[in-house]
Amino acid sequence: MFRFDEKKRVFFAHAKDVSYIFSITDKGYLRHLYFGAKISETDSLELLSKDFPNSFSPICYEEDTIFSLDVALQEFPTNQRGDFRSSPIVARSSNGSRVCDFVYDSYSITDGEKFPSDMPHARYGGQTLTINLIDKVKKLKIELNYIIFEDCSTITRYVSYKNLGDEDIYLERAFSYSIDFFSKEMNLITLAGRPAFERNVEITPITQGVKSISSTCGASSHILNPFVALVEKDISNDYGNAYGFNLIYSGNFKTSIEKSSLGDIRVLGGINDESFTALLKAGESFDTPEATLTFSANGLNGLSQAEHDFVRAHILDERYRDVERPIVVNNWEATDFRFDTDIILDYIDKASEIGVDTFVLDDGWFGKRDDDTSGLGDWVENTTKLKGGLAPLIDRCKQKGIKFGLWFEPEMVSVDSDFYRQNENCNIGELDRLPAKSRHQLVLDFSNPKTVDKIFNAIAKILDNNDISYVKWDMNRYISDNFSSYLPPERQGEFNHRQVLGVYDLAERILNRYPSLIMEGCAGGGGRFDLGMLYYFPQIWTSDNTDALERTKIQYGTSLAYPLIATSCHVTHSPNALTQRQISWETRFAIASLGAFGYELDVTKLTDEEKKIVREQIAEYKTVRSLVKNGDLFRIFSPFSDGMFCVSVVSKDKDVAYVAGMKWLDAPNNKHVIIKLKGLDDNKNYFVKELGLTLSGKYLKNVGLPIKNGYDFAQISLHLSAVKKVG
Ligand code: GLA
Repeated sequence: MFRFDEKKRVFFAHAKDVSYIFSITDKGYLRHLYFGAKISETDSLELLSKDFPNSFSPICYEEDTIFSLDVALQEFPTNQRGDFRSSPIVARSSNGSRVCDFVYDSYSITDGEKFPSDMPHARYGGQTLTINLIDKVKKLKIELNYIIFEDCSTITRYVSYKNLGDEDIYLERAFSYSIDFFSKEMNLITLAGRPAFERNVEITPITQGVKSISSTCGASSHILNPFVALVEKDISNDYGNAYGFNLIYSGNFKTSIEKSSLGDIRVLGGINDESFTALLKAGESFDTPEATLTFSANGLNGLSQAEHDFVRAHILDERYRDVERPIVVNNWEATDFRFDTDIILDYIDKASEIGVDTFVLDDGWFGKRDDDTSGLGDWVENTTKLKGGLAPLIDRCKQKGIKFGLWFEPEMVSVDSDFYRQNENCNIGELDRLPAKSRHQLVLDFSNPKTVDKIFNAIAKILDNNDISYVKWDMNRYISDNFSSYLPPERQGEFNHRQVLGVYDLAERILNRYPSLIMEGCAGGGGRFDLGMLYYFPQIWTSDNTDALERTKIQYGTSLAYPLIATSCHVTHSPNALTQRQISWETRFAIASLGAFGYELDVTKLTDEEKKIVREQIAEYKTVRSLVKNGDLFRIFSPFSDGMFCVSVVSKDKDVAYVAGMKWLDAPNNKHVIIKLKGLDDNKNYFVKELGLTLSGKYLKNVGLPIKNGYDFAQISLHLSAVKKVG
């Protein structure tokens, strides 16, 4: 709920466990007062309105109080008016000036969520506070939008920049939010990595100066995820204040964390300002992506649970909320490009014997695509490889009672393709410079709506003529040669952003036309794992690295910000194709079961014994599927610090829990590990299936369960269900 106290000129936002408060100063600047655990409006905020300027701080005005922008905690700082910290906006007027000075003009509170145009956004039942700030000299208005949802501890923010004058204004930086924290020792958590090793947890102290987390890859990237957290120094999984920041965006982003000379911390975020300029002609507006600001007082587990609740309720499409995700089998690791109709029919027959819901045909079914050097852009069946096209395969799936899924890579084109030959300048890059290839492919110019139209029509033809329930949408390279021959010179600074808008437009149109389709996101594994993608794709292929041990780190890091059900996790062959590590079926299952589950292996080569194992695993996954989708995640052991991985998922009513994980290396005479369970109800008794024992919630929490020594990479798997109340 939002409220404005007219007398004190204070705005209050209260959501589930969180309050966010700011005020308007005498001269119309927005002073940030508070973001954290819920507090009462009767508490005095006067004390928070004191500044302590230092001897070099420019003083804006000196009446009742001394006010200096350089030291005040602000809501949306302004550029080159005496605040020497970073600012969320850099706007150049036609006279070349970048000085900005925004002061309060008006506000409105509306039911429902406002959202940035043409972009994914938080949805389903929000309330919006809009604050209008105006720079009268620059004739620029900024509309700060805040959105809250009563059932979550997340506040979202985005900005609309509007040119009120007659002259052009160039936005050289147009971030989505800024927030200041009063002097505090805090650590920064980032999710860092590289292809096939995405989203590893890094924790660093925040020291004086600026630290930026960003992408220039044209995608949110494998390298640094847009999610960051600021946490108290002594944070644990269960205790301490934690703030999470994320962007509902999939392109180049930047989050800056700055500690001032006084120890205050400023966090700014939005579209990366590197190689970015947006032109605002008279009367034009520019909307930023929406950012999410989440708070928990209950440590990292509390923060993740708050993030997960928000994503499940307000980012993921509600059409997937009450249906279980399909258990898929994908042929990529079994066949790569080398298949024909007979091979795939045999694969489908064998897949149906192990009990999966959906068969997904990966790369290689279209155009001239026998390897990765050709065919992208030609979304027509390759009838040399597949006699009769997709129809016989889909018919066979129907006979066998499973659904059919198909792989696309819509944003890309091969030079050796009919699409490239027939569509001049369809790829990005300057016309007189050879664009860099990556995986032999070029990037289509999605800032040009005509190119998006053509790809939409080609994909729609396949989806119209075939019964396809699932699409895997891939993106196998980053963006270089960032230039569109469609855009005029003065709009080239918007290219990266417009390219992303083209991707969103295509995804939106496909989902509107095929409402029962489920799309899985992918970018060479998890190279575009972000809230923007999750708006359209309720699950994303987490990583091309499917080695269970490596996956513990990747999935652990990903789960800090994103719910388990958003992470596609498949059991693959052992030894693993990338690492050659051998890990048992049980352990591979334990790790892959913590997500949207499936298999990616050669089902035609499974022995009868292995088929039995897989059938049993699928049956077991079905018993935890809705828990994994809807439950609360608790981390117990971290692969980053404990040499093992263990988490539990507990149902919201605390009646059921699933504990899964794996030990790493074992050694002779090792001590048993004790797993103390989290999130259970102290006053309930739980039957532990694997032990055949009933124990109280209090016992399980305080005493815990010993896990036997075993062998390297041994799995952990426990199923608990409440039996009756302790009297
Ligand atoms: C990417 C994906 C893989 C597979 C291949 C196909 O690498 O991450 O899962 O789809 O492309 O080319």
